[in-house]
Amino acid sequence: MIKHIIAAVATLLAFWAAYHMYTLDKEVHKLDNIHRTIKASEIVVQLKKPVVVKEDLTTDNDEAAKKAAEKKSKELDRKLQALKNKAGNIAAFKVSQTYKQNCSSCHGVNGRGIIGPNLVGKSKEYILEQLHAFKTGKRKNYVMYGLLQKLDEKQLDELSGEIATFKEKWEKYNNQ
Ligand code: HEC
Repeated sequence: MIKHIIAAVATLLAFWAAYHMYTLDKEVHKLDNIHRTIKASEIVVQLKKPVVVKEDLTTDNDEAAKKAAEKKSKELDRKLQALKNKAGNIAAFKVSQTYKQNCSSCHGVNGRGIIGPNLVGKSKEYILEQLHAFKTGKRKNYVMYGLLQKLDEKQLDELSGEIATFKEKWEKYNNQ
């Protein structure tokens, strides 16, 4: 009889233990799930954050870039207009072929001077006198001396007259 009772209790215990193990397992499984859910939500939050920050930055950058682009475009327009004006002035500032070929490389296309001095504002008489002086070697300058040997009196006279008009021309085209 006692044997039977012990056997029954042992069986019950075994069942109880098995059941307990089963519930424990379920509990663990549940906890595991919760843990996983939390982990998953963390990932979502983590993923979201940088995106949000990034979006903010992008809009900021976009605004800044837009403004910078607008500013640049305006600046370019202004520069382009200035260039057009300048090109117009240069085109309008016509010089003779003789001046362009022989003199402009040193005195500039408008006489303002590069290597050679500024010729603008000098009278025809003064210029012609200097050209004669250079050509004869009275005023010593090898560059001007050599250059003037191939130009005749008529050309010197014309050039002097032309250069003397540069001041007026310059004022006319650069005040526009
Ligand atoms: C290779 C460069 C060069 C070329 C080209 C040149 N010159 Fe000159 N010119 C000079 C230099 C440098 C001087 C200054 C000389 C000095 O002061 O001794 C000068 C001086 C002058 C002067 C005197 C200016 C003054 O204030 O006294 C006149 C005028 C002049 N050049 C006219 C001309 C003419 C016109 C031509 C074209 C036929 C011409 N030059 C071509 C370099 C040049």
